[in-house]
Amino acid sequence: MSDPIPPTPTDDDALPKGAEMLTGHNYDGIQEYDNPTPAWWTWIFIGSVVFAVVYLFFVLSAGDELSPHGQFRRASIANTEKKFGELGDLEPDAATIIAYMDNEQWMAFAGNVFKTNCIACHGANGEGGTGPNLTDDAYIHVASIEDIAAVIRDGAANGAMPPHETRLHPNEIVLVASYVAAMRGQNRPGNPPKGEDIPPWETP
Ligand code: HEC
Repeated sequence: MSDPIPPTPTDDDALPKGAEMLTGHNYDGIQEYDNPTPAWWTWIFIGSVVFAVVYLFFVLSAGDELSPHGQFRRASIANTEKKFGELGDLEPDAATIIAYMDNEQWMAFAGNVFKTNCIACHGANGEGGTGPNLTDDAYIHVASIEDIAAVIRDGAANGAMPPHETRLHPNEIVLVASYVAAMRGQNRPGNPPKGEDIPPWETP
């Protein structure tokens, strides 16, 4: 006679029905089911993490292209191109500089460029400050009218007069050169003449 083999307990026998889905937490008799998050939720979660990494890399490598600052720069480049569309590419030569000296519309524009970039050193009306008076007949670096554009573009005196090649559009350099050339002879009180008196502007 042998003892009957006891039945192997199954999970169903060992635990009350549904208990395998419980986490085992018990708070004052309140129990918690171990419900897995639905697959769609998990995939959205994983997708967001992956997207965040890709996005971070993208934003960091884009520099300021995506920022309002970059947008502003692109808009102002587009605006400059639109504005200069009718001018084409101006040559920084004597004929062009002289031709624009009495163009009211473009001299108003150049006056603005001067105001933004030059008055800190040359005074509101070109009378001078740190920089020389631009309204008299004496010049340090200018022998003929196209030298004005060259000084504005390349600077002078080891940067005491800063180069504007990267700060201004080439057309702005030509137009502001016309504006500066037109200041000559106004003899505004300010810095005393510096350099040598040069002959009047002449077209080649
Ligand atoms: C940071 C100050 C500064 C700014 C900004 C500046 N300049 Fe000058 N500029 C000078 C100085 C200083 C000199 C004289 C350099 C020297 O003594 O050799 C000079 C010289 C010149 C000359 C030559 C004058 C001469 O007698 O030969 C011209 C033309 C000129 N500047 C135009 C401009 C224009 C146009 C702008 C704006 C687009 C400008 N400058 C912005 C400081 C400045």
